[in-house]
Amino acid sequence: MARISKAPIQVDVTALHDDGYGLSNDGRTAVLGTLPGESVTASPFSRRRKKTYCRIESIEQASADRVEPACSVAGVCGGCSLQHMDHSAQIEFKQARWLDTFLRPPEEILPPLLGPTLNYRSKARLGARFVDKKGKVLVGFREKMKGFITETESCKTLRLPAGDLLEPLAEMIMRLSDPQTVPQIEVAVGDVTTAFVIRHLSDLTEVDTDILKKFSKDHQVQIYLQPSDTDSVYRLSPDGADEYLYYDLDEHDLRIFFTPLDFTQVNHVINQSMVSLAIKLLSPGHDDEVLDAFCGIGNFSLAIARGVRHVTGLESASSSVERAEYNARINGVENVTFLSRDLFTEPVTDLLEPLSHVLLDPPRSGAETLAKTLAQSDVKRVVYVSCNPQTLARDIEILVDGGYHFDKAGVIDMFPHTTHIESIAVLSR
Ligand SMILES: C[S@@+](CC[C@H](N)C(=O)[O-])C[C@H]1O[C@@H](n2cnc3c(N)ncnc32)[C@H](O)[C@@H]1O
Repeated sequence: MARISKAPIQVDVTALHDDGYGLSNDGRTAVLGTLPGESVTASPFSRRRKKTYCRIESIEQASADRVEPACSVAGVCGGCSLQHMDHSAQIEFKQARWLDTFLRPPEEILPPLLGPTLNYRSKARLGARFVDKKGKVLVGFREKMKGFITETESCKTLRLPAGDLLEPLAEMIMRLSDPQTVPQIEVAVGDVTTAFVIRHLSDLTEVDTDILKKFSKDHQVQIYLQPSDTDSVYRLSPDGADEYLYYDLDEHDLRIFFTPLDFTQVNHVINQSMVSLAIKLLSPGHDDEVLDAFCGIGNFSLAIARGVRHVTGLESASSSVERAEYNARINGVENVTFLSRDLFTEPVTDLLEPLSHVLLDPPRSGAETLAKTLAQSDVKRVVYVSCNPQTLARDIEILVDGGYHFDKAGVIDMFPHTTHIESIAVLSR
């Protein structure tokens, strides 16, 4: 890393970077926690890739979009990057960035799908570390652009009770025989149950497990232990609890069960409206056969199956396929088949013939292979749920080149206060 002068400098911020920090007009000075139109005094702390990164010392001129963050460590914690920005301005910013990625924009832009802006996050990976200098354990997200764990009592975006348990978790780890043994805690929150998966690097003593069990009882949470890779995860406490966590999709009369390590959408409240919107946009008929690609544990598939002849769900993680099959059984959904398939490498041409509608919800890398197959198919309507505007735009170009009309698209506020952009697009032929 190049040496830099740490003397404070004056910066006029003219743009907001995709990662959520303010930029000077020449793009060479980045000030964390600033907004376009602001004049600030800032202290440089790092120089990378021809950019000098700074922290705010004082704000001489504030943007009209600046608000007081809900969280006292919002300026430091890497969990959020836009808490200092008015929420509707966040949405405008994301929508403009997202729209910019399309070579050929949709005919209609859907209104943003909005949900709760605080205590929304059901899944997270927290860091844990014993910090010698402070003589205590910290639990939380990492600091912005640093490896340190943010020192904080609570998190305002995690769902409750998890958001209020960061300090109690840290105090509990501090009491273990080796407070350095826990590097990471996975959080998974269902509609009624909260689970923590505690990774530990050395064997725990009986006294340690008693401390963990007491924490589980005192805070009414489930504690899972992970002594090595993810296959080693098992539940320590409480004894005899139900095997799974769950969330409900009320509108579709479904209860979706999952384990703490299964993929679930991060924001269960907006997930409910997203599933309903996706079905409305897909609008399959009762006699139609539908493909749900990248189906996970059946989040969209089972809801779609309520109104069509048959749904095929495809997914590469065999544990998710198992859970999807369990979810179909327990919800009494019989017109659905789940298959394990790697959609990046294995073709779906054998399944296409009866299909009229396809929903896809790929990971960040998108669904280039599937888009190329669909481009040559007779599938009438495609609904694409995306967590990455770049790969969405790439795949939409493939579909449009294949004769699809790009009807509608809109952003979904799945991750308020972060720069992540979830969106939904509809194409038809
Ligand atoms: C964004 S998640 C969507 C899951 C599900 N649709 C939901 O709403 O919960 C993407 C899913 O794609 C799966 N996946 C990742 N790579 C895959 C691949 N190459 N082939 C098939 N599925 C894949 C992941 O396991 C994950 O379940």
